[in-house]
Amino acid sequence: VAEIARVKNIKKIIMGQHEVETWYFSPYPEEYCAYPSLYICEFCLEYMPTQRAFERHRQKCTLRHPPGNEIYRNDNLSFYEIDGRKQRRYCRNLCLLSKLFLDHKTLYFDVDPFLFYLMCSSDDAGHHLLGYFSKEKQSSEEYNVACILTLPQYQRMGYGKLLIAFSYELSKREKKTGSPEKPLSDLGLLSYRSYWADTILEVLYDHHGEITIQEISDKTSITYDDVLHTLHTLDLLKFYGGKYVVILGEKNVQYHEKNLAKKKTRIDPEKLDWSPPK
Ligand code: COA
Ligand code: NA
Repeated sequence: VAEIARVKNIKKIIMGQHEVETWYFSPYPEEYCAYPSLYICEFCLEYMPTQRAFERHRQKCTLRHPPGNEIYRNDNLSFYEIDGRKQRRYCRNLCLLSKLFLDHKTLYFDVDPFLFYLMCSSDDAGHHLLGYFSKEKQSSEEYNVACILTLPQYQRMGYGKLLIAFSYELSKREKKTGSPEKPLSDLGLLSYRSYWADTILEVLYDHHGEITIQEISDKTSITYDDVLHTLHTLDLLKFYGGKYVVILGEKNVQYHEKNLAKKKTRIDPEKLDWSPPK
């Protein structure tokens, strides 16, 4: 059924300690839309229209982390893998929630063909969802991410690029290259461009001698086209002596050294306890 009226229907959600303004329409049942806010259980993602209903729910709900396998843990950062077919209700709730912040993705109910990778930070209360990406179990293109989201209460803290880094770690284990499904949102594109630039500059900075685009792609699991595009954007490709060569240049060296000094959280591949699903 085509959605005609895509007017924003839920104004605000209350999730854990956070009150969040929504961005877009999401197909929650109509009877929930008449209330001033929607209460979302941060552990099972069930939704309730009133605080009273939410408090009743909290007394029964025993979940303290996403219902899947923990495949990564480093300090208090964890990743869980969830099969859409095995955890339909949870994954549908996740899609409904993320649609509030996504303009163009239309997956809500057919979650079976997807795996979901959820990033959480843990404390005494449990594992709190920060963001996630979904991935088609069988992708005909070489997509390694279908949908990606950092919950708004955690945006602009570097988690988006951590999610992206994790998606490429999975591709490296699969010995494949991958790229996000198109179209990307403006914020999605910004985050990917920044991740590609950081990653490719790091490879070039650490490398001595010649390197081909194919080799950069093999090392990073970033597709050949995305590597080439990023090199263009960074103005690194020069036509020289009858062929293209990459020249790093002072500006990019400075950018990378500034980045190194930031000591950002990184994904440690040794902490990833995962092999590609058969
Ligand atoms: N304005 C300007 N720059 C922004 C920005 C904003 N609102 N949000 C993020 N950025 C930039 C950051 O500065 C950073 O670049 P830098 O490292 O070069 O400084 C880069 O984007 C990534 O930031 P990060 O904090 O790692 O990302 P995030 O946790 O905010 O998540 C998204 C990024 C895209 C996942 C998040 O914005 C989101 O969930 N958006 C809604 C869903 C969506 O559009 N998904 C993608 C399409 S499927
Ligand atoms: Na995407």
